[in-house]
Amino acid sequence: MSSHHIRPMLYARPADILTEHPIVGLSLAALGGIVLSFHVLRLVRVLVQTYLVPGVSLKKFGAGKGAWAVVTGATDGIGREFALQLAGKGFNVFIASRSADKLNAVASEIEGKYNVKTKTHSIDFSSNDTEAYKALETALSGLEVTVLVNNVGKSYEMPTNFVEHALEEDEAIVAINILSVIRVTKMLLPAMVSGKKGLILNIGSFSGAFPSPMLSVYTGSKSFLQSWSQCLTTELAGTGVRVELVNTYFVVSNLSKIRRPSIIAPTAKAYVRTVLGKIGVPCGSLGRPGAMTPFWSHSIGDWLVQGYAPKGWLLGYINNMHKDIRRRAIRKAERLAKQQ
Ligand SMILES: NC(=O)c1ccc[n+]([C@@H]2O[C@H](COP(=O)([O-])OP(=O)(O)OC[C@H]3O[C@@H](n4cnc5c(N)ncnc54)[C@H](OP(=O)(O)O)[C@@H]3O)[C@@H](O)[C@H]2O)c1
Repeated sequence: MSSHHIRPMLYARPADILTEHPIVGLSLAALGGIVLSFHVLRLVRVLVQTYLVPGVSLKKFGAGKGAWAVVTGATDGIGREFALQLAGKGFNVFIASRSADKLNAVASEIEGKYNVKTKTHSIDFSSNDTEAYKALETALSGLEVTVLVNNVGKSYEMPTNFVEHALEEDEAIVAINILSVIRVTKMLLPAMVSGKKGLILNIGSFSGAFPSPMLSVYTGSKSFLQSWSQCLTTELAGTGVRVELVNTYFVVSNLSKIRRPSIIAPTAKAYVRTVLGKIGVPCGSLGRPGAMTPFWSHSIGDWLVQGYAPKGWLLGYINNMHKDIRRRAIRKAERLAKQQ
């Protein structure tokens, strides 16, 4: 091999390539500039959408005009906030969860604060019972429903390897996180399409965007939600019905077991306020039609993880994080058991 062939390996400084092979050097520099600008521009778009661009007005979906919003899993956490804040925007609110007492308390709170109507319905989505769904459909009949928040969701008590899950628990997760969403949407979507007006918010999770070991069936259920939402968004384009996957990271709630708000875990109130103000703006979900990651720290995290985190490394990182959470949860349970 001549010394000419090995020279490119020996440039002392990157600038040498410009003097010795100006065309190659300039082409590489231009390519680097294009790639860098693409990434910088993408970050700028994410930041502009997250901090500046307002969402579609809820008036488009009948706020303040007698239309109803249906929220599943509405007695606690994120769902309760959707019920309250949608009422605050002028929607009548239909709320469905298991516990009648908690439903009545939320309905009274809403009617005490806002001049809207409420309806409550007790249902246990884990049983996937056809008769229970028929009763729900009857309760909903006659209402002009233009907003549906598919919020109800269940995860594991603590991260656990699939081999140790009780089958019943995995089945309940599928029934609550997937089947309830399909069945309730099937009930309400036809009228939204014929009325040319509708908003369906599917409350997804970061663990649907990338697999989370030790939460395997939960993760899978949220991945379903992601694919299904994006299919519906595409199928329903031009019908007046908008479907959004609301990509959620940590939020203070019973499900997350996070008690105090932080930079990455807002309160449900702050989180839902952000979601309702950003309908139709992807923020951190840029490039994924029909998906939105609106809360600022979640948005930047989504941009970073989706664009730059090596997937194999991420799987291992989440697995280790969940092992650690499990260890701490078991220690806490043992401590509490000793105190009793
Ligand atoms: N919090 C987070 O950090 C986080 C992160 C990512 C995604 N998410 C998603 O956000 C959604 C809401 O979570 P959250 O944190 O607000 O949960 P949460 O505080 O535990 O509230 C869950 C709600 O669902 C109802 N519910 C639970 N099981 C039910 C069942 N079998 N049938 C009917 N209703 C049932 C509960 O009411 P009853 O007890 O009265 O039935 C409650 O109103 C879920 O889809 C979750 O996956 C949350």
